[in-house]
Amino acid sequence: MFNIQELRAQFPALSQKIHGNDLVYLDSAATTLKPLSVIERITKFYSYETANVHRGAHYLSDAATSEFEKSRETIRTFIGADTIEEVIFTKGTTESINMIAQCYGDKFLNEGDEIVMTELEHHANIVPWQMLAERKKCILKYIAVLENGEIDLNSINEQITEKTKIVAFSSCSNILGTFTPIKEIIKKAKSVGAMTLMDAAQYVSQKKINVKELDVDFLVFSAHKLFGPFGFGILFGKKEFLEQMPPYQTGGSMISSVEFQCTTFNHLPFKFEAGTPHVEGAVGTLAAVEFFNKLDLENIFKHEQSLMHTVQDELKAIGGVKIIGEALQKAAIVSFLVEGTHHSDVGQILDQQGVAVRVGHHCTQPLLKKLGLTGTIRASISIYNNESDIEKLIDGVKKAKRMLL
Ligand code: ALA
Repeated sequence: MFNIQELRAQFPALSQKIHGNDLVYLDSAATTLKPLSVIERITKFYSYETANVHRGAHYLSDAATSEFEKSRETIRTFIGADTIEEVIFTKGTTESINMIAQCYGDKFLNEGDEIVMTELEHHANIVPWQMLAERKKCILKYIAVLENGEIDLNSINEQITEKTKIVAFSSCSNILGTFTPIKEIIKKAKSVGAMTLMDAAQYVSQKKINVKELDVDFLVFSAHKLFGPFGFGILFGKKEFLEQMPPYQTGGSMISSVEFQCTTFNHLPFKFEAGTPHVEGAVGTLAAVEFFNKLDLENIFKHEQSLMHTVQDELKAIGGVKIIGEALQKAAIVSFLVEGTHHSDVGQILDQQGVAVRVGHHCTQPLLKKLGLTGTIRASISIYNNESDIEKLIDGVKKAKRMLL
């Protein structure tokens, strides 16, 4: 069994006071806090190891290159990919999806083709497909979400048809917490020959991923939601697709040879990594994956789930609080509203108590519109949260209710 006190001690951010109160960090769906091992690794890199990669003829450059590529190899193992050629470094989930929409979409989609998403996607997994649909005159379709936040299983079969060319879906909703039926979606997509893209931005810190077992064509996530640095993300793609896709950006590193009139491109994965890369991002992510791999994930998952159920039960017990999204299978994310109040006002009062939550549309405006809402208060629980955090959240909500009503 893991020791929550020991775990908390690894996160310096948790030792500070906000507005005179101990920080209660319940915004890990927006970004996770960073453990000392990641912070110290990045500091060490900047202090002693700074050098550009794949370029120099000196010790530091060689050492940086080998750490950079060790990161890729560690991530390859982490997601169960066959080869490092399938592991592309990007800026994050958003850039990864844009890259696929542009490089795969522009090459393989034609007028009248259908792109299927779910209604619970965040904007990063909607807007790139809208732009593609506009360029290529494609049709956008959405697998329906039920009132309780679950995916409507019938809708998977209704929306994915012989005309579907891409199915881009989130495996875990950032606002409702819903774990989506990954296997059912991929199976149906495969049955019609559609490409599949799994957005694992929220999922990656929750459950083990194996791209081969999933048999997914593309999978994306960001390091900053996995206890790693900002500005660094992963794009896994099956080699057969990546090889056929044109580069996303052009410039240094992604070339094999350049003449005044023409260029030949580098092999995978470098074909998709133009320019000097985010070296400390890769090094910090390596430390983050090593940190994550050492966690007792099974028991931590149970701990997070138990805290989430306590939050939901206690919020309901207050009265006049509505939980938005109660799927049976969900991550420890609780969206809620206090009837008669504005979500921003509740967020501000919680902040005064040192309780950090996110309020607003959570980059999911279409879903909120469908649910008849403009925003929610979202408490997202991670590995370092404890019972005391939950008590302070509930006390804060009670206080907000007293003050605002
Ligand atoms: N997608 C992130 C969130 O849910 C930023 O807050």
